Amino acid sequence: MISPRRILFSLLPLPLLAALLTGCGSSGGDAIRIGEFASLTGSEASFGRSSHNGTVLAFEELNAGGGVLGKKLQLISEDNQSKQGESTTVVKKLIARDKVVAILGEVASGRSLEAAEICQQFKVPQVSPSSTNPKVTQKGDYIFRVCWEDKFQGGQVLAKFALDSLKAKRVAVLTDVGAPYSVGLANFFREGFLAGGGQIVAEQKFTKDDKDFKAQLTAAKSTGLDAIFVPAYYGQVTLIALQARELGITVPIFGGDGWEAPELIQGPGAAQALEGCFFSTHFSPDQEMPKAKEFVAKYEKRFGAKPDAMGALGYDSALVLVDAIKRAGSTEGAKIRDALAATKDFDGSTGRITIDAERNARKPAVIIQIKGGQFVYKETVNP
Ligand code: PHE
Repeated sequence: MISPRRILFSLLPLPLLAALLTGCGSSGGDAIRIGEFASLTGSEASFGRSSHNGTVLAFEELNAGGGVLGKKLQLISEDNQSKQGESTTVVKKLIARDKVVAILGEVASGRSLEAAEICQQFKVPQVSPSSTNPKVTQKGDYIFRVCWEDKFQGGQVLAKFALDSLKAKRVAVLTDVGAPYSVGLANFFREGFLAGGGQIVAEQKFTKDDKDFKAQLTAAKSTGLDAIFVPAYYGQVTLIALQARELGITVPIFGGDGWEAPELIQGPGAAQALEGCFFSTHFSPDQEMPKAKEFVAKYEKRFGAKPDAMGALGYDSALVLVDAIKRAGSTEGAKIRDALAATKDFDGSTGRITIDAERNARKPAVIIQIKGGQFVYKETVNP
């Protein structure tokens, strides 16, 4: 009897068979292949495009400097269309078909969680640039991020900001119950805000495809609130703000990094509805940090626009990963993983990156205010 494995091998062209048997197939011939999955189209396309641009810039620089381990780097990008389930498909493809040595992505926590399941199973290191839900890196020892988590963003930065800067005691929370990011951030905020003496006067829910938030907003309005917290992605935030103002709700609305996209304040009435409102994020092009300034200049020259947090984190994620490959001296998954885990004081565009025992990074957050149709840097909050 011929085993299925023998049949497979006898059908393979010789060079490929040789590569499989010697175990060097994963380096992909001449270039070291790195996979990226991103929301390049669909509801959060702004996230994917920015992050992708930052990553592309990093690869161009790295290759101009000779690549790594004597080889050029090849970035293989896949679009998950901002759709649930697609990240699983494209990441499997990157690993099985393209034989990438590591994976970069995603911005949205829900999609990073999907990929992490696969990357951990196949022992392919994954570096998320900007997913902040704690569960992402808890998926296993091959999963890393180069940003802080929502425990910091919600429980410390935003809870403190609401109490001290907004002077809000009574806050309503509107959560997207289908998004791990939204649910996690709402929970951490509640914890920190209550501990600081605040009161949650309404907890309202919605899901990704909802377009009408009037019932939730009307319920919130009747409570005599000081502010509304919306831990959601930009598309939903704009609709919520417009409908809140239509209902005569004038209190400030605030949120987290999911707000950050030019689209947030585009479209009729959006900028006015959100005038004076705030959100927290990872980076501002107006921060006074030498590394950030340097990155902003390079990004502007390459793409003709200023980078946002996702651009900066997309850039840093690629640099941190390639730095680890260099220190590992190898493209073997386990060795890259160990080198990533040992990352210390990497000088990134978003600050110094040290990977802790839980495979997360600790860095400052920034608060941005929406003013006259612009995102204006207000302050930096240290961990
Ligand atoms: N932190 C968000 C999430 O985990 C994604 C995000 C990061 C959005 C940075 C904007 C900027 O889903």
